[in-house]
Amino acid sequence: MRNKIAEHLNEIKDYQAKTAQEIEAFRIKYLGSKGIIKGLFADFKTVANEEKREMGQLLNDLRAMATSRIDELKAAQDSDGIGEKFRDIDLTRPGFPFETGSRHPVSLVMNEIIQIFNKMAFSVAEGPEVEDDWHNFTSLNFPEEHPARDMQDTFFVDLPGSIALRTHTSSVQARVMENQKPPIRVIAPGRVYRNEAISARAHCIFHQVEGLVIDENVSFADLKLTLLNFAKEFFGEEARIRLRPSYFPFTEPSAEVDVYWGLKTEADYRITKGTGWLEILGCGMVDPNVLKNFDIDPDKYSGFAFGMGIERIAMLKYQVDDLRLFYENDARFLKQFKETY
Ligand code: PHE
Repeated sequence: MRNKIAEHLNEIKDYQAKTAQEIEAFRIKYLGSKGIIKGLFADFKTVANEEKREMGQLLNDLRAMATSRIDELKAAQDSDGIGEKFRDIDLTRPGFPFETGSRHPVSLVMNEIIQIFNKMAFSVAEGPEVEDDWHNFTSLNFPEEHPARDMQDTFFVDLPGSIALRTHTSSVQARVMENQKPPIRVIAPGRVYRNEAISARAHCIFHQVEGLVIDENVSFADLKLTLLNFAKEFFGEEARIRLRPSYFPFTEPSAEVDVYWGLKTEADYRITKGTGWLEILGCGMVDPNVLKNFDIDPDKYSGFAFGMGIERIAMLKYQVDDLRLFYENDARFLKQFKETY
């Protein structure tokens, strides 16, 4: 009997099973009502009295061993992911759809503008949103007390030295000229701040893309061609632009640029105030005073700059008639914009 028990013990220890049925068959073989262990306990009666104590102990150990081995095998099956508890899952059922987010329309338009200028060999420059007076105003030829500073209502930051939230991305022009020698060919997309009453057409926070080119022999014709090329890429091959004389302290001459929007529908009359044209940006030839502020020789180098409002262009592209929608983050509004490039 001792030998038999030892044999069974070895078999149990090494037993491997792959399926639930195999484990169940093994359980019945050892622990079932007509199983091996039941049989051994029946034979126990015939064991000599002086051996009963030892044999009883061995039999109990055998039963414990069989029970724990079966538990082990079942647990291993479950953790493989093919155990009993997964049997009822229907893997052929369709999944439920995930609500994935979408890019913000301002980001979509900004990325598209960046791509178009990348193709024209512009690289991307960045600058801080909290800016000092020199980079935002003074170096860009805004004299102290000059009324041009009133064109832009500024949010000042409570720090010594006239620190403010930048009112335009032209501050990045200053940062680039400070750190780079010509030839310069950059765009600077970013967020700007102005202390304006919030309405359907104005917000205290919005985005611009600035452009700056400085090299030998850069002319106004280069500026026009760059902007026309941009308009065709963005609005379509039939896009037309017109330049109107304007004023900025840091460019001379300066212009504002309109794109032709058309007058097909009643809404077109409203959006363009009956002209068919819509203003999208300000631009001009970099003023020699600005070049001098950054030790760039105006007799050798010339350049042009432009700055466009991204929300304005996004409103045109997506026919959104209220600027505030871009900042309310209503999911029903945001979900409508898909990447189109
Ligand atoms: N910074 C000007 C604005 O915010 C736009 C501009 C940029 C004009 C570059 C000329 C040249 O209105």
